[in-house]
Amino acid sequence: MKRVFLIVLDSCGVGEEPDAALFGDHDCNTLKRISQSEKFRSDNMQKLGVFNIDGQDYMPSSARPAAAVCRLRERSAGKDTTIGHWEIAGIVSQSPMPTYPDGFPDEIIEEFKKQTGRGVLCNKPFSGTEVIKIYGEEHMRTGDLIVYTSADSVFQIAAHEETVPLEKLYEYCRVARRILTGKHAVGRVIARPFIGEPGNFTRTTNRRDFSLLPPRKTLLDALKEDGKTVYAIGKINDIFAGSGVTDKVATHGNTEGMKLTLEALDRDFEGLCFTNLVDFDSLYGHRQDVDGYAAAFAEFDAWLPSFTAKMRDGDVLMITADHGCDPGDTHTDHTREYVPLIVYGKNIKPVNLGTRRGFCDIAASIAEYLGSGYRGEGESFMKSILKPTAEEKALCRAAYDAMGRSYSPYSGYKVGAAVLCSDGTVFSGCNIENSSFTPTVCAERTAIFKAISEGRRQFRMLAVCGGKDGKPGGVFPPCGVCRQVLSEFCDPDMPVLLMKSKSTFERSTLGELLPRSFTPSYIK
Ligand code: THU
Repeated sequence: MKRVFLIVLDSCGVGEEPDAALFGDHDCNTLKRISQSEKFRSDNMQKLGVFNIDGQDYMPSSARPAAAVCRLRERSAGKDTTIGHWEIAGIVSQSPMPTYPDGFPDEIIEEFKKQTGRGVLCNKPFSGTEVIKIYGEEHMRTGDLIVYTSADSVFQIAAHEETVPLEKLYEYCRVARRILTGKHAVGRVIARPFIGEPGNFTRTTNRRDFSLLPPRKTLLDALKEDGKTVYAIGKINDIFAGSGVTDKVATHGNTEGMKLTLEALDRDFEGLCFTNLVDFDSLYGHRQDVDGYAAAFAEFDAWLPSFTAKMRDGDVLMITADHGCDPGDTHTDHTREYVPLIVYGKNIKPVNLGTRRGFCDIAASIAEYLGSGYRGEGESFMKSILKPTAEEKALCRAAYDAMGRSYSPYSGYKVGAAVLCSDGTVFSGCNIENSSFTPTVCAERTAIFKAISEGRRQFRMLAVCGGKDGKPGGVFPPCGVCRQVLSEFCDPDMPVLLMKSKSTFERSTLGELLPRSFTPSYIK
């Protein structure tokens, strides 16, 4: 049973990206900033390898990190929560979500008025409590709707519950949601109902968010289609407008989010548990509370061992972020930062993957791990960090042994190969040279021809090993002729293990070695 637990530390960036200045950001590094607080604790994150990540030279790194790590650059043009999470889930956004510092344009407001049959008040960025104080009375008198926005990509509608019944307000939100498309596709339309008398209005808990659907298929949709579980904890369901989510639970902050994620370990499921811990951003990042942020990080760090101790063999934990929000920089807004990625589990090798381009590599890698064909706009790094399986080890041993039987008096290069057939049998082969040179046969073809002539036609994996005098000094990949022969019988996604030594190898696939190969399908 394979499960991935993906935890987003909302806004916990690890240093400004090369294009940060274009987003109005300089000298930002959220993690570095909070590490300078007295409240900061990171023992467990340090052991996993968070300070082994590129650029984190302000704290001691771990000599033997327990996790695979890297930092990821954002490919999307943005630094907000929705776009960040969508990229984590596989899709890159070419433009940021629209914001309206001067209010919404006439074309939007006029259409909204026409479709609701009501007037509009305010139409400016405003504080939610102030806006009802100032426009509440007029709204009650005229029935006009209070429309306002913020620094975020939001269209908010405030209305008194006795002037506009809740269901009606939600309907108006759906109207706005339908109007706000294309270049005006705001992240969220929000219903902001309130009650009370003029001078004494209060907002109710009947707020409701109408999020934008992701514009293309995400990892979540792909997993759901495959019949896997996608369990959303915290605001994940909202960020994806419910798309691809099979189970969900809302939270009131980090502590509850961590508790629910820990409890998710006791659930039997195959798929993804996707958690967002929002306090880092909403309570501390925006409010520029360095100590508060550091204390929240310390709480997460202290919680970690309780989680890792309960992880099962097939579980993978990934910890990342969706953007930065340096609490000690010059503004209260998000910051354009690299995000960290920590990947931990029994099956994971602690490799440092350096710096990668695109949060969407997370989606591609999770998909590959869970056996989904989805890759989104990312590239999977899973092959580089998975520990060898028993099957892979056995196949490599067979290839290595076959290398010892090589007949190669002319080149001196000994090569061995082994194929794993769908029925579990293994056929191995070595290269066999000839005094007239051209009849020489490679190890891969010897192995596959042996298998074919013994009645096998379906193959699951190939291992190849070679080197001068039978001493591998790095990979010895199959030649073009062997690739062509293999593509006659094997699928492009068949794993090919390119051995670097007796016990180490790189994972490739036949399709990677011979893209767009000439196959029997072309002459059928
Ligand atoms: N060789 C293989 O066995 N497999 C390949 O795919 C590449 C080359 C052998 C052929 C020859 O005996 C020796 O390596 C040097 O070319």
